[in-house]
Amino acid sequence: MGSVSLKIGDGTARFRRATVCSSAVNILMIFSVITTNLFALYAFSSSPKDPHSHLHLLDKNFSLISEQVTLILREIDMSQKKLAQIEKDLLGYESLDLSRPNIANELKLFLHHHQLPLGKDSKSGITEMVSSVGHSCEKSSDLLSQYMSYKAFGPCPNDWSVAQKLILKGCEPLPRRRCFAKTISKVGLLHPFPTSLWKAPVNNTVNWSGLGCKNFECLKGKKLSRDCIGCFDLVNGYENQRFVKSRSKNDFLIDDVLALGSGGIRIGLDVGGGSGSFAAVMAERNVTVVTSTLNVDAPFSEFIAARGLFPLFLSLDHRFPFYDNAFDLVRASSGLDGGGREEKLEFLMFDIDRVLRAGGLFWLDNFYCVDEEKKRALTRLIERFGYKKLKWVVGEKADILGSGKSQVVLSAVLEKPVRV
Ligand SMILES: *[C@@H]1O[C@H](CO)[C@@H](O)[C@H](O)[C@H]1NC(C)=O
Ligand SMILES: *[C@@H]1O[C@H](CO)[C@@H](O)[C@H](O)[C@H]1NC(C)=O
Ligand SMILES: *[C@@H]1O[C@H](CO)[C@@H](O)[C@H](O)[C@H]1NC(C)=O
Ligand SMILES: *[C@@H]1O[C@H](CO)[C@@H](O)[C@H](O)[C@H]1NC(C)=O
Repeated sequence: MGSVSLKIGDGTARFRRATVCSSAVNILMIFSVITTNLFALYAFSSSPKDPHSHLHLLDKNFSLISEQVTLILREIDMSQKKLAQIEKDLLGYESLDLSRPNIANELKLFLHHHQLPLGKDSKSGITEMVSSVGHSCEKSSDLLSQYMSYKAFGPCPNDWSVAQKLILKGCEPLPRRRCFAKTISKVGLLHPFPTSLWKAPVNNTVNWSGLGCKNFECLKGKKLSRDCIGCFDLVNGYENQRFVKSRSKNDFLIDDVLALGSGGIRIGLDVGGGSGSFAAVMAERNVTVVTSTLNVDAPFSEFIAARGLFPLFLSLDHRFPFYDNAFDLVRASSGLDGGGREEKLEFLMFDIDRVLRAGGLFWLDNFYCVDEEKKRALTRLIERFGYKKLKWVVGEKADILGSGKSQVVLSAVLEKPVRV
């Protein structure tokens, strides 16, 4: 509320509008005007008995009235302050207390409000520009300050894990920095496209510091998530057969799914797409796919980029940085289930729905439901979107991660309807 994001010049700016809760202030104002007038009316209309004592009384009553008016004005002032505080709390980013000690100067500089040069903007009603940093950053302001401590125009500290920690704590988007990010020489080390799609990058194209594994060989056998069981092994194992050979009725073949899109699938989004193999298979079919990823326990981002694919470094708590109705296809897997909270899945599903165009396909690929109830809840949710079920397969699989107990697995291809 009261805030709009606009793309201006070199980045996103947030604008503050002064209209939040102003109707409440208006009501207070009207109330005070009426009370003041009633006081005056009372003072002047009561019948005089003794003109002298009346004058005296009137005198007294005037001071009484002005006392009341002062009280009312003070009340209005307090309410306005309270409302401003509510507004700040709601908008969140205002609550980053920049007067605290230990706040990095660069952070203060970044968050400093800038008055619009030509005053109030007539269209949006805003008066100043505010850099956007998620309100959750307030809870991690020490970490944020650490992230913003560096020498301006110097090299950035090697602190990618600090940045990712902030993102995982909900501090998104991060503030921009005026320092040069670390580089790793990849000159002559990257494979040409399309060879790059299925060839592991050279070990020293990644800075392994802070990671458990120190080379790609080590990552090959790792089960990092349900979408990454040995997903760094592009040569042996199952990774290079995913989407082209099925191991169970829940594994749909990519060409079958593309056929359902009746030739209209050109760009896609893979939500939590492991090492990017879905995008690779799609690239071979001339479809451009963006893979959302974080570097949890492995250099997913570097790996996907080295394959010649598009990694989107973003947590799923963040609104997708795409405009409405952009994609022909969105694929998602168990990564959708952000911790089990029903509402969390709902927020994510609505955002997926937003970026998918009407007639586009949503491919739910091997979603592990903890139990039957979870499956029912998910089905109910999907049905509320009114998608056409082109494929819908419920199966059962041993959970490769964790207990190994058998779980209900749902795979589906759904077509987004035109809504009017
Ligand atoms: C002034 O106020 C007193 C009560 O404080 C009231 O009794 C009196 O009628 C008032 N006089 C006038 C002229 O309003
Ligand atoms: C990476 O390092 C491992 C271990 O030193 C080595 O076996 C492997 O061949 C290297 N792979 C690449 C692609 O650089
Ligand atoms: C990798 O990161 C560490 C610290 O995190 C740093 O000391 C080292 O210089 C980096 N290596 C390269 C090749 O950039
Ligand atoms: C992809 O595009 C290239 C160049 O236009 C074309 O030669 C190739 O046949 C296409 N591949 C597929 C699978 O459509």
